[in-house]
Amino acid sequence: MKALCWHGKSDVRVDTVPDPKIQDPGDVILRITATAICGSDLHLFDGYQPTMEAGDILGHEPMGVVVEVGSGVKNLKKGDRVVVPFVIACGECFFCKRTEYSMCDTTNPNAEIARKAMGASPAGLFGFSHMLGGYAGGQAQYLRVPHADVGPIKIESGLPDEKVLFLSDIFPTGYMAAENCAIEPGDTVAVWGCGPVGQFAIRSAWMLGAGRVIAIDRVPERLAMAAKGKAEIINFDEVKVYDQLMEMTAGRGPARCIDAVGCEAHGMGSFDAMVDKAKAALHLATDRAHVVREAIMCCRKGGTISTPGVYVGMLDKIPFGAAMNKGLTFKMGQTHVQRYLKPLLAKIEAGDIDPSFVITHKVKLADAPDAYVTFRDKKDGCIKVVLDPS
Ligand SMILES: NC(=O)c1ccc[n+]([C@@H]2O[C@H](COP(=O)([O-])OP(=O)(O)OC[C@H]3O[C@@H](n4cnc5c(N)ncnc54)[C@H](O)[C@@H]3O)[C@@H](O)[C@H]2O)c1
Ligand SMILES: [Zn+2]
Ligand SMILES: [Zn+2]
Repeated sequence: MKALCWHGKSDVRVDTVPDPKIQDPGDVILRITATAICGSDLHLFDGYQPTMEAGDILGHEPMGVVVEVGSGVKNLKKGDRVVVPFVIACGECFFCKRTEYSMCDTTNPNAEIARKAMGASPAGLFGFSHMLGGYAGGQAQYLRVPHADVGPIKIESGLPDEKVLFLSDIFPTGYMAAENCAIEPGDTVAVWGCGPVGQFAIRSAWMLGAGRVIAIDRVPERLAMAAKGKAEIINFDEVKVYDQLMEMTAGRGPARCIDAVGCEAHGMGSFDAMVDKAKAALHLATDRAHVVREAIMCCRKGGTISTPGVYVGMLDKIPFGAAMNKGLTFKMGQTHVQRYLKPLLAKIEAGDIDPSFVITHKVKLADAPDAYVTFRDKKDGCIKVVLDPS
């Protein structure tokens, strides 16, 4: 089959690789019909995520049709159309029983590497480094899906791929980011980053009772899409975010802050962002933590910071004293996607939201390497790319 493989920093290629096979009775094999590129893939493309190996298949936002079924699978049969969460979860361990699927204790075969780096291993993820399981990803023509009774959700309503594909990741991720804020009715929510995750965080904040949503980025078309989602916008290239947020909130700051940027933050002219960039370039640091710092400084006293943005390692110069003395609450994590599949599918079916609004580019899998560059460099108005592997 054809698959998008990582070969090194800024080097992804469409290779011919062996078709996946059933390895475990709980597996199914999918023929992929649509699969997306995520901001998280950029951290791999840009060389931020350790333990990648040449030839690794990327991708964790796939859907498709079941073509082979392991002997132990009960809920799926050949021909079923499913969306696959990026998190691989067993459904039975201590954490899965608590619906903390991205913390699953059993699905990372390389748990020891993760334990050394983090103290405990999170769940295995599709297409996301060996430290997180070494599972082949879904930017491919076929995909092996382990624990097929726990992850994939069947789409039986005939909705087109584009409307349901983002149940795999970014819609639940934006939603959990907003839920993690514990929004009280009427709260002001500030969202850093107007990429796909930020866009869903904005719309989810409204669903969960925000009174005001303020979105921060510098890419005009992303800010425009945020404004379409009824957010007030701040361009961080043009104004100082702290000053602007204080002005907009009578000096208090937003009660709920969402960091939908993660470890590759830019910070125009700010000294800390320049230091981050230099350190990352010299391999002295793993993350560019500008948004974490800024959100802590901006957040209202007693407020919440929710972090869907991905971080990798040791973050520098975090104003923890400010966070402590202002009494902030932090919530974060890889999304417990399985928890949100049914309720968010119901919202799509009810017409409350059409997630396809975020798609700007649809290309063949063969053109994925160019699409990575277009998406990373935010060229050509690119906000979200969907790949067609047919
Ligand atoms: N927690 C999860 O389970 C999960 C799931 C999916 C994605 N993510 C992460 O969420 C983050 C966003 O993903 P995405 O697909 O939207 O990525 P993206 O790269 O398309 O978007 C990031 C946006 O942040 C903006 N940005 C950069 N620096 C900024 C700053 N200082 N202030 C405000 N905005 C700034 C960029 O201009 C860009 O528009 C990534 O870190 C990704 O890895 C996490
Ligand atoms: Zn993703
Ligand atoms: Zn589990």
